[in-house]
Amino acid sequence: MKKNERGLWATKFGFIMATVGSAIGLGNVWKFPYITGVHGGGAFVVTYLVCICLVGIPVMLAELIIGRSTHQNPEGAIEILASKKSNWKIIGYMGIFTAFIILSYYSVVSGWILSYIGKSILGKFNANQDAAQIASMLATLLQNGTLVIVLHFVFMAITTFIVMFGVHSGIEKASNILMPALFIMLLGLLIYALTIPGSLSALEFIFKPDFSKLTPKAVLEGLGHAFFTLSLGMGAMITYGSYLNHNQRLIPSAFLVALLDTVVALIAGVIIFSIVFTFNLEPDAGPTLIFSTLPSLFSQIPYGNIIAVLFFISLGFAALTSAISIMEVVVSFFIDKFHWTRKKVTISVGFAAFLLGILSALSFNVISEVKLPLGFLFGERPTFFDAFDKIASNILLPLGGLLIAVFVGFKVKKAVFDRELTTSEKKLVPIIKFILRFVAPALIGIVFLYGLNLTHPIFEYLGIE
Ligand code: PHE
Repeated sequence: MKKNERGLWATKFGFIMATVGSAIGLGNVWKFPYITGVHGGGAFVVTYLVCICLVGIPVMLAELIIGRSTHQNPEGAIEILASKKSNWKIIGYMGIFTAFIILSYYSVVSGWILSYIGKSILGKFNANQDAAQIASMLATLLQNGTLVIVLHFVFMAITTFIVMFGVHSGIEKASNILMPALFIMLLGLLIYALTIPGSLSALEFIFKPDFSKLTPKAVLEGLGHAFFTLSLGMGAMITYGSYLNHNQRLIPSAFLVALLDTVVALIAGVIIFSIVFTFNLEPDAGPTLIFSTLPSLFSQIPYGNIIAVLFFISLGFAALTSAISIMEVVVSFFIDKFHWTRKKVTISVGFAAFLLGILSALSFNVISEVKLPLGFLFGERPTFFDAFDKIASNILLPLGGLLIAVFVGFKVKKAVFDRELTTSEKKLVPIIKFILRFVAPALIGIVFLYGLNLTHPIFEYLGIE
């Protein structure tokens, strides 16, 4: 991360760690397992992997090219590559809007993690409690709307504080230790999880696709999640790419980040479903899944309490590095555009996102029965929390990604590609352009058409339902 003055990442490791820090977060450990569970496992995982490869990696490359060739925030970058008046700037505005929405509910879930850090420090997950009792702890927390809002406030305040003071060197140093720590802990838990009885069913659930279970909605979710988990479609990678110097090769970087991110998600999935099938829990529990499963594992294993503390702290940290990158997109735009001070912008953005997040915080208690009339898009009427997540991840991010792909595929000049890619990378330009121009937009378009209940008479007329 960089503060208001423009700078460059010091090292390749620093860039990869920061980018991986943005990419790896709640998306991998919280969201991926829960949506995999909701959508029935293997076939969904295959869809998600296909979307990562065919759409995610090319769009990440496109964002890095936009960022590094201009050293600007998303909106300013497009001004340079297109023109000041260009309509393509909508990419920038949409990204800022999307980032704001994601920030608001991301902080709510991160607040739950804060509570779990507290619970694990107090030794709440122990062998005296059975899986059902542990699973009910989150329900108890969620019923307490005030506490959920307070925790959401605390997380948002920490994020705001860091983005405001730009203690980036501290964050970079901490992420250099805590991201690998999370990774090692996940590996350790994976090895343990593979020894418990439910692990075979878990592997089968995740890696044995049953395509008859795949619905158009699941495909849309897989696509949306590919964007969410790689931090794509709203300009975060444009911003990070803008701090990158020319010593680094973009294509291998995009592959490496996508690979690490995917590996972490799959490991988290295997761990969580091993617990689910060992303790006969529900795989389709939804957003509460990891909170009702992981602590059961901690309660069983030697030194489980210490591992629990370390695990939730690293997960909280992974969430923080992602939240920082989300907030930075909004903040850097207002600073660049209106020349307001970083302090003023950050506090305003943090506070506004906190207020919006209250709707998500209350979606699990006070207003859990309030369902928005968006059934025409999503099938079921969503709560505020679901609506924010689905609109942002499943519509706005893929739409942003589509525009970015088309923009870089058609509008960005050859000279830019020549400058941004090395000689060996340039051989791939025709393939990259083909994917950005046709493959990614077509895939996103088709998935939208089928996934978003777009059953307008014209589609019926065309034979598309
Ligand atoms: N990629 C992050 C995660 O998986 C979330 C995120 C989304 C971060 C969009 C930045 C932009 O948790």
